[in-house]
Amino acid sequence: MKKKIAVLTGAGVSAESGISTFRDSGGLWDNYNVEDVASIDGWYRNPGLVLDFYNIRRKELASASPNAAHLAIAGLEKDYDVTVITQNVDNLHERAGSTRIIHLHGELTKVRPEDSCNDRDGFSEAKVFDIGYGEIHLGDLSPDGVQLRPHIVWFGEAVPKIESAIDAVEAADILLIVGTSLQVYPAAGLYRYAGRNTPIYIIDPKDVPAYDRRITHIRNVATAGMEEFRRILDGQKAD
Ligand code: APR
Repeated sequence: MKKKIAVLTGAGVSAESGISTFRDSGGLWDNYNVEDVASIDGWYRNPGLVLDFYNIRRKELASASPNAAHLAIAGLEKDYDVTVITQNVDNLHERAGSTRIIHLHGELTKVRPEDSCNDRDGFSEAKVFDIGYGEIHLGDLSPDGVQLRPHIVWFGEAVPKIESAIDAVEAADILLIVGTSLQVYPAAGLYRYAGRNTPIYIIDPKDVPAYDRRITHIRNVATAGMEEFRRILDGQKAD
């Protein structure tokens, strides 16, 4: 039976692929007002501005590639039962070969009708369309004539997949956290669901607000940090 590893990632895991983080200097929230482009109120105020913001990011993603950290996380599946829980909306974990991915904040390459959350059964994946790296504009409608919107969880909206993320963290023998400032809930609180004796490794060049005796901080960027993490795992296996 393979040991279970839950891997929680944030924008930092994609930084070395050239994808902007949010809160580092020069990050997305230095250049855009998050309320205008990544909140449900911003969508109702100015949907065209929101559509442009995600069209730009989708286009950037088309020319980005998974980096060695994404590949190393996918490589863990050889020896471990891995669940990736990502706050990222890029598709770099998929393209690196990870096979079990929970996108807590949605997916940049997907869109859905703007009224989809009004479904009686909660959020229905059936109405999600994959547009790859294409654009959507005002007037682009779903088959039943509803304006399409990015399949992204915005500030002010529920996080439909948080329960399955909690399940994965609770079940994990090891929790790895890569490249997140742990500022945005509920994702930032996930590590508290790890078992009492579950080791938690955080890979980040900076300190992050997580204070817990189970934590080992690998103070490095994601690519080098993953090499260090793999050495720790291999050392444990050799014991
Ligand atoms: N390798 C590893 N970590 C890095 C690297 C790198 N090369 N570069 C930066 N980091 C770290 C930063 O130190 C920081 O802790 O990645 C983290 C990025 O933090 P944020 O920019 O806040 O991104 P994230 O934590 O993913 O944001 C969470 O906020 O705006 C919302 O929905 C958005 O999913 C996002 C959520």
